[in-house]
Amino acid sequence: MIGSGDGPVLVVDFGAQYAQLIARRVREAHVYSEIVPHTATAAELAARRPAGIILSGGPKSVNETPAPQIDPAVYDTGIPILGICYGAQLITQQLGGRVARTGRGEYGRTPLSVTGASPLFADWPARVEVWMSHGDAITSVPDGFVATADSPDAPVAAFHDERRAIYGVQFHPEVVHTERGTDLFERFLYDVCHCPPSWTHTSIIEQQVEAVRAQVGTAPVLCALSGGVDSAVAAAVVHKAVGDQLTCVYVDTGLMRANESEQVEETFRRQFHIDLVHVKAADRFFEALAGVTDPEAKRKIIGELFIRIFEEVARDLVIERLGTEGDEGGPAAEAAGYLVQGTLYPDVIESGSDSAATIKSHHNVGGLPDDLAFDLVEPLRLLFKDEVRAVGEELGLPHDIVWRQPFPGPGLAVRIVGEVTPERAEILRAADAIVVEEVRRAGLYRDLWQSFAVLPAVRTVGVMGDGRTYAYPIVIRAVTSDDAMTADWARLPYDLLERLSSRIINEVEGVNRVALDITSKPPGTIEWE
Ligand code: XMP
Repeated sequence: MIGSGDGPVLVVDFGAQYAQLIARRVREAHVYSEIVPHTATAAELAARRPAGIILSGGPKSVNETPAPQIDPAVYDTGIPILGICYGAQLITQQLGGRVARTGRGEYGRTPLSVTGASPLFADWPARVEVWMSHGDAITSVPDGFVATADSPDAPVAAFHDERRAIYGVQFHPEVVHTERGTDLFERFLYDVCHCPPSWTHTSIIEQQVEAVRAQVGTAPVLCALSGGVDSAVAAAVVHKAVGDQLTCVYVDTGLMRANESEQVEETFRRQFHIDLVHVKAADRFFEALAGVTDPEAKRKIIGELFIRIFEEVARDLVIERLGTEGDEGGPAAEAAGYLVQGTLYPDVIESGSDSAATIKSHHNVGGLPDDLAFDLVEPLRLLFKDEVRAVGEELGLPHDIVWRQPFPGPGLAVRIVGEVTPERAEILRAADAIVVEEVRRAGLYRDLWQSFAVLPAVRTVGVMGDGRTYAYPIVIRAVTSDDAMTADWARLPYDLLERLSSRIINEVEGVNRVALDITSKPPGTIEWE
């Protein structure tokens, strides 16, 4: 039977992240999906026993050379195929239909007319609004195919060969502006591919717990907690899998957000009963940063000191476990065990390999010394961020941690322009706490990618009561973004800005002015350093 593969739905990547959104939509329909490069051969694809294959959109035109192709033998495998936009045009071209440069593309919301019966449009009305983004148009379908929809500038907006279970749509069902987009995926997945909707948050946890147990056996596992959602969820999954074998290390650099350390203690030690080593290292960080103003130098100092401290803790734990100090490559190396990394699926796809060995260089734990010989445990490496959050909630992590906005590894230091001192960190932390509190109160915290305070290295004149002041300004930085690659400054409501200004100036000593950063990225970055 067509569509009897019990493996994942494979989403073939033709560039520019179209595939990621499709893979997420498939998973939202509770079917497991993975992204694969278009260079995979038909035999390699078939070896995964996929329940279906989706050819994604892409930035190129099939009429360009070179344009990315797929091994045409895939059309003879019997695996159901859905081509979307570029994918649909590629099917057309490779199977002998025609994709023309009509000179009349469609971009944005477009009315689609359903002209023929299709399992993908089971109970659709005759007209549906869809999202289009194409320059070329399919003008004739390959032999054996029928067209099932059109739009003003796409003579063939959908087509299929039901016998071979090959489908194509010119529009983008993965985009929210396409009415019935979710329905289209469900029809393809459930009715054409016969996938059961079994990829649920509970099943994700069960699978990952099993995988971690199988990987680590009875070996000790170490996890660096940053206070952020990824490391927290990774730790919670590993703890569910191996309980007391897990030790978490939290390094308080003195550059954390308000209450972050207390929350990590409360959650991991008291709620989860996880063995937590809480290293209070603020003094060491401030000492190392004294007099340093260059942004890159600050980052480097923080990163290196973090690694050194983590290494000290890891070494102590290994020695404690063995009762002896192992030489390099000696017994300690054997026993160092596993290190948890909160690597997510987009990192795995972007690094272009499934080798887990690259530890993200710019944050968290980087460049651990070879003699500690950790193997990596990456319980989130197949998950998208929204799945990580759902898993975190399901495991009972507090809302505050699960929905926390991203926070850079070097902490508040990249938001303190100029020298980082305990006093300046305190000013920023207090101002930042007010920003977070008021943004939450306004109900905007989850809508914003990040919202925080920045402390510049200038002071300005002000007047308070009868006296003249000479103090720091605080800059409010709030951005919307999908992935931090680009960002727009958030149009915060005036009444929120007014509350922020008045509270920060009244409550934070050393601040007499509040400004708003209205720079998008590019040309600005989200952080100030
Ligand atoms: P920029 O400032 O480059 O930041 O626009 C993009 C995103 O990355 C975060 N960021 C970091 N995250 N370690 C991290 O883990 C870092 O050193 C770091 N620097 C920036 C930043 O908060 C934003 O979300």
